[in-house]
Amino acid sequence: MAWLLIALAACDPGVVAVDAVQHGADLYAGIVPASPSKLNLYACKTCHPLHSSAAPVPGQVASAPILPGAPLAGVTQRGRWWGGAEADLLRAVNVCRARFQHAPAPWAATDVEARALWAFLVHLPADVTTVWPFTAVQAALDLPPGDGTRGAQVYDVACRSCHGAAHTGLGRLATRVPRLPEQAVLDHAGYSPALLRVVFVEKVRHGGFFGYGGDMPPYSREVLSDADLAALLTWFGLYDTL
Ligand code: HEC
Ligand code: HEC
Repeated sequence: MAWLLIALAACDPGVVAVDAVQHGADLYAGIVPASPSKLNLYACKTCHPLHSSAAPVPGQVASAPILPGAPLAGVTQRGRWWGGAEADLLRAVNVCRARFQHAPAPWAATDVEARALWAFLVHLPADVTTVWPFTAVQAALDLPPGDGTRGAQVYDVACRSCHGAAHTGLGRLATRVPRLPEQAVLDHAGYSPALLRVVFVEKVRHGGFFGYGGDMPPYSREVLSDADLAALLTWFGLYDTL
């Protein structure tokens, strides 16, 4: 019977799963890239916390990062994704890979990466198991000025991880990520301050979505309130006459 025991041990799902869970964790953290594209700047981790304790509380400026994506612990049990608009978890993941990570092809359910990611996500202690709210702001409208001091904090926890230090861009993910606000203002030379504010609102609310180009993620109302966005615009000096 020894051969049978050895064969069974070789098929032990626990043993296989540990490897898959680790592979999935490496995909999440970007140690193994989730997209082969040279244009990809991100890991899943860039935009998604694992646990809701690390997710922003609306209306509060936390010292924890304001990330645009939902916490992933419990994601396999949610039943619907992207605020309820998507009924297939793998498709929800492939949207991110295509829109933000420039992945040339979606993962199929049988692909080793998709299976590893699944093993990792299932293995996380379930946290948020209900649909994570994602209210996209349809029309980007100008906002009344906000609290500039708060704006500086918002920049540090929401924008700096990709855009680097304000004004200089020091530490940004790549030179193609614009220095804020100057480079974005220059890109729209001749715009009035009011129009410039709308450009910023559009970019933050829509990212590369709704027909807008690029690979910046969109921020829902739940993640970033209008008050925090207005605070940011105020701190950028976009209410001053430019
Ligand atoms: C550039 C930022 C960004 C990157 C990188 C990214 N995502 Fe997302 N992801 C988002 C945003 C924004 C949403 C929509 C808001 C949300 O999470 O529901 C989203 C939605 C999702 C959802 C649906 C969550 C839910 O509960 O509705 C899943 C699952 C997901 N992403 C997984 C991944 C995985 C896995 C990776 C890496 C392969 C990844 N994402 C990479 C930003 C990103
Ligand atoms: C996950 C990374 C990431 C985060 C976080 C991020 N951005 Fe971006 N942003 C980018 C990238 C990459 C580009 C250039 C590509 C593009 O336009 O999508 C960009 C472009 C922009 C532009 C467009 C500039 C132009 O010339 O048109 C603006 C404005 C902007 N970001 C503002 C912000 C603000 C404000 C925040 C914080 C609330 C923020 N971004 C957070 C990645 C990010």
